[in-house]
Amino acid sequence: MCDCCKDKFYITTPIYYPSDKLHIGHTYCTVATDAMARYKRMRGFDVMFLTGTDEHGQKIEDKAREKGVTPQAFVDHIVTGEKGVLDLWKLMNVSYDRFIRTTDDYHVAAIQKIFKKMYENGDIYKGKYVGKYCKPCESFWTESQLKDGKCPDCGRDVQDAEEEAYFFRLSKYADRIQDLLENTDFLEPRSRVNEMVNNFIKPGLEDLCVSRTSFTWGVPVDFDPGHVVYVWIDALFNYTTALGLFNDKYADYDKFWPADVHFVGKEIVRFHSIIWPAMLMSMGMPLPKKVFGHGWLNFNGEKMSKSKGNVVDPYLLAERYGVDALRFFLLRTFPFGSDGNFSNELLISTINTDLANDLGNLVSRTAAMVQKYFGGKLPAEQTADEAKDAELLAMASGLREKYEAQMERYAFQNALAEIFKVISRANKYIDENEPWKLAKDETAKPRLARVMYNLLETVRIAAGLLRPIMPATADEILTRLGNPASCWESLGAFGALPADVTVTVGAALFPRIDAEKELAALEELRLAAQAPEAPKEEPLPEPLPQIAFDDFAKVEMTVVKVLECENVRKSDKLLKFQLDDGTGAPRQILSGIAKYYKPEELIGKTLVAVTNLAPRKMMGRESCGMLLSAERGEKLSLIMLDDGIPAGSRLV
Ligand code: ME8
Repeated sequence: MCDCCKDKFYITTPIYYPSDKLHIGHTYCTVATDAMARYKRMRGFDVMFLTGTDEHGQKIEDKAREKGVTPQAFVDHIVTGEKGVLDLWKLMNVSYDRFIRTTDDYHVAAIQKIFKKMYENGDIYKGKYVGKYCKPCESFWTESQLKDGKCPDCGRDVQDAEEEAYFFRLSKYADRIQDLLENTDFLEPRSRVNEMVNNFIKPGLEDLCVSRTSFTWGVPVDFDPGHVVYVWIDALFNYTTALGLFNDKYADYDKFWPADVHFVGKEIVRFHSIIWPAMLMSMGMPLPKKVFGHGWLNFNGEKMSKSKGNVVDPYLLAERYGVDALRFFLLRTFPFGSDGNFSNELLISTINTDLANDLGNLVSRTAAMVQKYFGGKLPAEQTADEAKDAELLAMASGLREKYEAQMERYAFQNALAEIFKVISRANKYIDENEPWKLAKDETAKPRLARVMYNLLETVRIAAGLLRPIMPATADEILTRLGNPASCWESLGAFGALPADVTVTVGAALFPRIDAEKELAALEELRLAAQAPEAPKEEPLPEPLPQIAFDDFAKVEMTVVKVLECENVRKSDKLLKFQLDDGTGAPRQILSGIAKYYKPEELIGKTLVAVTNLAPRKMMGRESCGMLLSAERGEKLSLIMLDDGIPAGSRLV
């Protein structure tokens, strides 16, 4: 069939936010998407599989600043650097057709056009974003984002704030979205529909803030400098700019849009099932056919997070158990629409049970027997035994249909369960037919050959259907069977394997893992990864030019005692001191050391101050002098003397 006659299938993953390295949760969604894309290709569809990275926003800008690099350099490192996003997908054998970065020029230019079009059609208007502002974090928050009324990032007090911003008229589309969700199968699983309608639509959809002026790392609004577009319009329209909407880089929009399915995690179902269709309606564009909200992977019952030190590293697992074992585990273990609980115990037991015992054993036992009894090549003369063969044959020939029904529902777990029912049945078939007994009787050779054939043919079908999930393993198994037909057509019926097949015996596909030893090793690795890094030695400061003694003698350094000390309101840096400098009148000095000392621990201490510095104002308060301290990198220590020396004494 030529490409233009094939049915099209367009599938996407969310575009990942490259603020940190990706973990097993991100890998889960991408592997599922890859398995679906491979399955559809196997079925003859013309597939477009899109993934990418969502690179704008304040968080990226902040993280880059912390690291002292530009936001572009920061995201480049996480996306294209060693063990970055691209490396991970290569390792995991992810067969995407296209990768979009929202910082790509063609995307940025297209987003500007989309924004303008929505502005011109009246669905975007200028207003005021009213929220809460955390000054130290320089972040805006909505009331609902606050934690106990405080900044969710640093826990400090927030203040009321407003900022000029553009808004999208989401409220206008509420009825049409509700209808879409309730009366079509646009969103799956169905359980997510109620959540969207009851939690978000029924309480009233509010217009959505789609531009900001408080940071710059976004797509600039070309007709209103100072405003940048981020997340909503920028990220969601990636699914269409990557096909060529409003750009010349690609020309696949007419061919592939609307998407057949967007796979997304549960926390972004709202963006994809409410905001995204409303924006497309505003643009007069067709809606995707489906949004599928998958569940989250937790670790030992807890949300994975860097601060808890329980983020599961896909690189580590793939290195220890192989990429296919990891891909298989993710899709075999957790129902795609629900949350799953990742644990190392579960991973190891799944590998041992399904892959080492069931699949691996079936392949190696069968190949070893064909080698032992027939020198590796089956004779064409074979005797069937209807009664003994019927069940295995029926299960193997009916497998493709059952598998297809599950894959079409994105039920990877069930599709794999169907394959493993047949694999178990084949292992049982070996025990029922006792080939080792047949081998002892020369006249039973044709029967023995048929038993072997039935097993090999079952292995062929199972391996062919496993290919979207475990591509390399399936290829290896099929190579051992002499590369028989494994196309979709051939997997739907028993008998495509030639009767006189030649088989190769290979190494164990999945060696059994010693669970106890392995769990201990993993725990050790986890603890080692959590150990704090050795602090970096700060470089010594540059030496200053020499000065004359007379210059030094001009500095008046005086012993002072702390009478009072307190934090300066609205400042996280300054402490305000009242000091006894021996003159009888207290001296006020402000010092930026609040990060290092609590006020109460300094009261009564004997310090050194430069007392002839010209006074200056800090946060509206006068500071008459400077306290001496030593500083290196993150460390700071005030110069303290013992109490025996009276206030007012001079340092010489
Ligand atoms: O949400 N288990 O990016 P993201 C399963 N840029 N899935 C998980 C997970 C876990 N533990 N942790 C994260 C974004 N994910 C936006 C998307 S699309 C236009 C913009 C999933 O990097 C999460 O549910 O924070 C989401 O689907 C995906 O990883 C990307 O998350």
